[in-house]
Amino acid sequence: MIKKCLFPAAGYGTRFLPATKSMPKEMMPIVNKPLIEYGVDEAIQAGINAMCIVTGRGKYSLMDHFDKNYELEHQIRGTNKEALLEDIRATIYAASFTYIRQKEMCGLGHAILTGQELVGDDAFSVVLADDLCINQEQGVLAQMVTLYKQFRCSIVAVEEVPENETHKYGVISGQEIKHDLFRVDNMVEKPELGTAPSNLAIIGRYILTPDIFEILEHTVPGKNGEIQITDALLKQAKDGCVLAHKFKGKRFDCGSVEGFIEATNYCYENIYLTSDAPNQSHTTVKY
Ligand code: UTP
Repeated sequence: MIKKCLFPAAGYGTRFLPATKSMPKEMMPIVNKPLIEYGVDEAIQAGINAMCIVTGRGKYSLMDHFDKNYELEHQIRGTNKEALLEDIRATIYAASFTYIRQKEMCGLGHAILTGQELVGDDAFSVVLADDLCINQEQGVLAQMVTLYKQFRCSIVAVEEVPENETHKYGVISGQEIKHDLFRVDNMVEKPELGTAPSNLAIIGRYILTPDIFEILEHTVPGKNGEIQITDALLKQAKDGCVLAHKFKGKRFDCGSVEGFIEATNYCYENIYLTSDAPNQSHTTVKY
């Protein structure tokens, strides 16, 4: 089934400069937990245990985060602070972590193509960690894995956005084949205002079948000279089938300052403060 999750995390995160000058955007914390850890936990909850991370220059802290820190652990052993490391320890033991560097930042499609060596020949999932998704019953990735088992084709997660925001997203149109599930017939990356085919915007969760790699290899750079995953998915949709799943749950665009603040407030009130763990260390939640 879906056993691997690819995390494209090589971007510069320019909207958060200067914070992201030397710190990866994916390591920015929502309360006390870095964005990427929320994504990894969502993948684990979906039954996925191999995390494949596409990194870039200066992103060593991503690797360090999913590794032991013997000095620190020795220092706090036996104190009540040990509980603060429980979640990340469990995450580290529940999954494997492999890394590959994207040599040039040529867009999300290029980052996914870079990950081919790590994900291999099977269908895989993709999480953009700066989209934080939370759903108490079943995480967004788990919802998509369930759908993949039935339909066996690429699936994108979509959300309705206001019309004046469609230009920030890849936008799909398609026929609703069952409740909240669409068969994609068109897909446009960041359409000009007023030209979007619908208000269903693609967010940072995908399940991709491995033929996407060959399509990406032949995809010519689109907007801003970047290889767009949307262009490759549109070809897949035209040649075969791509589904769009209007997911259940909340999504925060933590790549923008406003979304990041909103996510922080939400997680502080609904996860951190309601935690029953000692000194509120746990941010355990279903995604
Ligand atoms: P974004 O465009 O949202 O991220 O890419 P960014 O470029 O880092 O942010 P800004 O716009 O400059 O603030 C979506 C995801 O794709 C990854 C990013 O790390 C992010 O997780 N990405 C993007 C890559 O890994 N490589 C790329 O070449 C581009």
